[in-house]
Formats: sequence, C-alpha cells, structure tokens
Amino acid sequence: MQILVLNGPNLNALGYREPDIYGEETLDDIESLMRQRAEDLGDIELDFIQSNHEGALIDAIYTHSNWDGIVINAAALTHSSTALADAISTVMIPAIEVHISNVHSRPEAWRHQSFLSPVTWGQVSGFGYRSYLAALDLLYSRLAEEQQP
Ligand code: DQA
Repeated sequence: MQILVLNGPNLNALGYREPDIYGEETLDDIESLMRQRAEDLGDIELDFIQSNHEGALIDAIYTHSNWDGIVINAAALTHSSTALADAISTVMIPAIEVHISNVHSRPEAWRHQSFLSPVTWGQVSGFGYRSYLAALDLLYSRLAEEQQP
C-alpha cells in the first residue's frame, strides 16, 4: 500500500512556529512517528513531502497519481487553493485532510473554510501531531478493507 503525505507552506517551521498552537514537534518528528506507525500497521510505503509552493504540491499529487491514498495538511492553502482541490478530485485518490490545530475553533474566520473538504474523504483537525497518525490509521483501515481479495 502506498500513501503520500503532503505538507504545505510553513510546516517546515514546526517546532518553533507558534508552539502553543502547533506543538513542539518538528516535521521530522512527525515523519518519524508516521513511519513507525506505518511499520506497525503493515506493508505501507510512505512518501513524505513538504513544500512552500502550491505548484510543487500539485505536481506531487500527479507524480503519485497511481498511489493508494493521500494524507494532506495543505496548511494555509486549505483556505485558498481551488487548484489543489481540483488536483485531488482529478486523481480520484482517497485523501484525508489533516490539521494540527482545530481550525474551527481558531479566531480567524478564514480558517473555518476549507476548499479541500468537498474533495476529501474527511478531516482530522485539532489533535496536534496525533491528527496525522489518526489520518494514517483511518486511511489504512479503509484501503486494507478495499484491497481484500
Ligand atoms: C494548519 C491550520 C491552517 O489554518 C494554518 O494556515 C496552517 C496549519 C494546521 O495544521 O493546524 O499553516 O493546517
């Protein structure tokens, strides 16, 4: 099973970026935790990518268009990118939208809107780094069920 984990703008700064909101874990920490969880779950290949550029994230979706699932924290692009939403619906790969913070309880109204929600299977928001692990569990459980002979 092949799962793409995509991380958008400013997530490279996790660890020192507003730690009261995003926690103390770095993106490398999150990658290690996900790789460990993937190993525990079974036969999962993970590609873990971060970019500050919308086009690079879209390109990554197309270069993985024959993969089985996507976990995506599009960061601020969640709230603005119709192009990213179109790429996800074009490849028709089951995707889970992830947020470290609970975007719905944040004070900025623009964080309450997601262009990805209509094209993703569901959203995991507000559980810190655990949002990523929960998304991996959920995707694995769906894909394993679908891939049963
Ligand atoms: C975020 C929430 C977004 O609103 C914000 O722009 C981010 C991170 C999160 O993981 O909580 O960069 O996606």
